[in-house]
Amino acid sequence: MNEVFFQSTKFFALPLHKKMELFRNEKLRGYTPTLDQTLDPENQVQGVEVPEDDPDAKKPFYGPNQWPSEDILPGWRQVMEQYHNEALRVSREIAKIIALTLDLDAGFFDKPEMLGEPLATLKLLHYEDKISDPARGIYGCGAHSDFGLINLLATDDVAGLQICKNKDARPRIWEDVAPLKGGFIINIGDLLERLSNDVFRSTLHRVVLDGQERYSVAFFADPKPECIVECLPSCTSDMNPPKYPPITCYAYMNQRYNDTHLGLNHIMDKK
Ligand code: OGA
Ligand code: NI
Repeated sequence: MNEVFFQSTKFFALPLHKKMELFRNEKLRGYTPTLDQTLDPENQVQGVEVPEDDPDAKKPFYGPNQWPSEDILPGWRQVMEQYHNEALRVSREIAKIIALTLDLDAGFFDKPEMLGEPLATLKLLHYEDKISDPARGIYGCGAHSDFGLINLLATDDVAGLQICKNKDARPRIWEDVAPLKGGFIINIGDLLERLSNDVFRSTLHRVVLDGQERYSVAFFADPKPECIVECLPSCTSDMNPPKYPPITCYAYMNQRYNDTHLGLNHIMDKK
């Protein structure tokens, strides 16, 4: 974990033109500069990697990653790949516990369309040393819930993350989540909320900065794009009908990315 943070710091310390050489592609892999995604600060995206000539590479969200070169950041790729593998293993273990609480087989989420062949994305985040001002709508990262099943969030020891436990309440009450170095904060995503018919609510969260620079590492464990996410039989009854219609993971993710990626594509011109 320390090594992941160390390598992340090294990446973000590169000059902007070097980072822009890895500007995110249409599969959202690569470097995303500040303000590119409205709910997100500066970040770096990777995901399930398949080579360009793999039949899956034509599908949305699939394709080769963009890696910093070995000359510039030696060992970087290896550290990130190892972390990606281990974070996926941990996510599957957590999913077993969730399955049991929903009266499912422990292995429910191991099915190929769930976390057997998942969309698993590692995102390294760097927040600059700015001061947020919620009254003026200025945040490190605006209020949102994550899109997929679960997110394993690791942070450095700088505070900033806040959650709102009841997203339907007005006004919203925001609570600080103390940084837990060496631990994970597990955020429930929207697809788990839909699947469980609100038994698991997705966590509304945001980042409010106090002027200190901050690093975090988010690992999103999401179903395969083709997976149809619909209310589980164990989460519905005559008295409690499904609250959400079935939707494919792809359709849901795509809609949410379109809502949030305003795409400051003119930044490309600086390349
Ligand atoms: C996210 C996120 C919070 C953080 O990337 O979706 O909510 O602490 N990150 O960086
Ligand atoms: Ni989030």
